[in-house]
Amino acid sequence: QQFTVVVPAAGVGKRMRSNMPKQYLPLLGKTLLEHCLDNLIAHPRIKHIVVAVHPHDPYFADLPIAQAPWLTRVNGGAERADSVLAGLRAIDDEWVLVHDAARPCLPHQDLDALLDLADEEQGGILAYAVRDTMKQANAAGFVATTLDRSHLWHALTPQFFPLAELREALTLALNANAVITDEASAMEWAGKPVKLVEGNPCNIKVTQPIDLMLAEFYLSKLLK
Ligand code: CTP
Ligand code: MG
Repeated sequence: QQFTVVVPAAGVGKRMRSNMPKQYLPLLGKTLLEHCLDNLIAHPRIKHIVVAVHPHDPYFADLPIAQAPWLTRVNGGAERADSVLAGLRAIDDEWVLVHDAARPCLPHQDLDALLDLADEEQGGILAYAVRDTMKQANAAGFVATTLDRSHLWHALTPQFFPLAELREALTLALNANAVITDEASAMEWAGKPVKLVEGNPCNIKVTQPIDLMLAEFYLSKLLK
């Protein structure tokens, strides 16, 4: 069985403070978005990718990859969840993966482990256990309490769910103005199970300038 990935790539990359959205920054000879897409489509169980791009994006059309037969472009929305929903509306599959454009360092091994959930008939996400002691702050910037780290995980992407269930959960959650920062939060909101599949922490979301150095390291030393 082969699967489709929705890649939200319509963000502006505010925290990166660069002169173009971070997904178009070059790294080792190609853009972050191309690293992300090339890596996904190279996986034998991925057949198609839907990329959500900002409606006024001047960069995407110039990428050689824009003409690829396995790629569909849709217009992204104001929030990440809107962009994802636009991508979900463009496909008709049993299951769907959603993966951030800003994560170029996804190991294929992790993708394999996540895709195995299709056999168990429950969706899930890549994640890894937190390592630092976690503090909850109060409004004055003091520690309110220390959280029990043993139950805390970093949520990564890809996230993998039955398409119809995810589309419904995202639609309802957005209409209810719930805080939805990933697909899992919409599924949780709808009362659906979300399995945690242990992934590699190298699968970083490039967010701040220093993350480019990390991504370069992982891409050149670990994933090649
Ligand atoms: N994204 C999107 N549509 C939006 C906002 C974000 O498709 N309206 C995408 C981004 O392009 C990125 C992914 O969602 O690939 C994860 O979001 P994030 O890392 O927050 O990227 P940005 O929103 O671009 O960055 P920032 O929050 O710093 O502005
Ligand atoms: Mg953002």
